[in-house]
Amino acid sequence: RVQSLFSCNILLVGFMGTGKSTISSYLVKALGVEEIDTDRLIEQREGRSIANIFETDGEAYFRRCETQLLVELQKRKNLIISCGGGMALQDENVRLMKETGKIVLLTARPETIYERVKDSRDRPLLNHNMNVEFIAGLLEKRRPKYLKAADIIIDTDGRDVSDICEELIEKV
Ligand code: S3P
Repeated sequence: RVQSLFSCNILLVGFMGTGKSTISSYLVKALGVEEIDTDRLIEQREGRSIANIFETDGEAYFRRCETQLLVELQKRKNLIISCGGGMALQDENVRLMKETGKIVLLTARPETIYERVKDSRDRPLLNHNMNVEFIAGLLEKRRPKYLKAADIIIDTDGRDVSDICEELIEKV
């Protein structure tokens, strides 16, 4: 089972607060594979926070960084790639991701997402809109794109990380 994961990459996608980073950390420990967190890698390379990138150069610039990173990751194997919440929204990105590995969509209810992200200071899209209604609206707008990109869908609502990861490994 673990062996089968080694032949491809796993890309975790989904809305902010659906547990991508948490699930990724767990899988990395459980499977001994390498992790790439696209937000953190972009921050490292740019030497500044996501919030700063959005503020100074705008969202479009950040989206170009994401696509550029996907192009690079195509050459790599055996990675758990935890993607920023907007990664699966562009068709070009989805095309690159499909060529890179299995796309696992994590889902959760807006109320759950709100509880998970409400204290976050580095999510520029939610800065002035940190409430369940806004999250529900944006999620609704994005849902078709997420669903279209996904190879596998896993609900994270009210579940243990180990339980979610077990299902993920089973389905991959
Ligand atoms: C974004 C999600 C964030 C980050 C950026 C934009 C989005 O990642 O990439 O703030 O458009 O959903 P997380 O999903 O890891 O919070």
